[in-house]
Amino acid sequence: MYPIIRNRRLRQNAAIRSLVQETTLSVNDFIVPLFVVEGHQVREEILSMPGQFRLSLDELEREIKTLHALGLKAVLLFAKAENAKKDNKGTEAFNDNGLMQRAIKAVKYSCPEMLVFTDVALDPFSIYGHDGIVENGRVLNDETVEALCKMSVSHARAGADFVAPSDMMDGRVLKIRQALDQAQFEDVGILSYAAKYASAHYGPFRDALDSAPVAASNIPKDKKTYQMDPANRIEALKEALMDQDEGADILMVKPGLPYLDIVREVKDHVHLPVAVYQVSGEYAMIKAAAEKGWIDYEPVFMEQLLSFKRAGADLIATYFAKEAAALLRGPS
Ligand code: PBG
Repeated sequence: MYPIIRNRRLRQNAAIRSLVQETTLSVNDFIVPLFVVEGHQVREEILSMPGQFRLSLDELEREIKTLHALGLKAVLLFAKAENAKKDNKGTEAFNDNGLMQRAIKAVKYSCPEMLVFTDVALDPFSIYGHDGIVENGRVLNDETVEALCKMSVSHARAGADFVAPSDMMDGRVLKIRQALDQAQFEDVGILSYAAKYASAHYGPFRDALDSAPVAASNIPKDKKTYQMDPANRIEALKEALMDQDEGADILMVKPGLPYLDIVREVKDHVHLPVAVYQVSGEYAMIKAAAEKGWIDYEPVFMEQLLSFKRAGADLIATYFAKEAAALLRGPS
């Protein structure tokens, strides 16, 4: 009790503050999301995500080398499918020679040590922009899961280290685990988007991949029948525990900052590493405010990244990974 206890003793200089610091941020915490496109020498900036690019595979290889040199260890790949390749069943998603599959090989070719996580969901390949197959106004669960299994095995065959199902279909982790094992990919892991909310923060990402749900009759206008209600907390724990039981290796909560409470609760209830995804809308808000000169860019994003760790995240998928890695390394 004051005056014998004075909390400011432990804050009086940088040395003591660093000794008692509870949480630290390191380059080992980050997963770098990357967008790939067809073409050659394409490095196309995404309008709503300044500083983020759609990369052709040659540019991807260059980027991977830069990331590796910064000490980054893992990337999360998203492929932008050409319109002509889209259908309702997401067939292109499991084409062994598809863009994603070639991107996985390109990363492994340019830098074998770089861990490759791949997004597993049908939306970039769906004419309707849904994460699953649509029939009679509904997104089918079990039929979609079958497609996700084929997609996962195809990614594993191309060399993926972890598949990351982001679709929120029921039971997909178990089925994907079984499919991978049956194809003798026992060592390929599953990072499950266990608690993924039907959030309004994914807009810029959908611009990046041109993957927003289309407006048409008999097509669900949003993803609320599979992604979670932002109002729910207990349900996130249920999802996380089920995915843990089904054999997920890492669980993810998404989005990030608005869901720090969920990150903490999931971390307290599971026995797996927990990842958080600081999504496109979160990135865009920081970028926009910084462009206007309304916030101090670097301290703001570094504070948010640290907050994810404090909330219990072991890993952070973030579009700031490259800049954060450079800052953590210090001036060279
Ligand atoms: C697709 C997917 C989305 C994101 C990751 N995987 C979008 C969505 O569910 O509509 C969002 C990532 C971001 O906003 O940065 N299944």
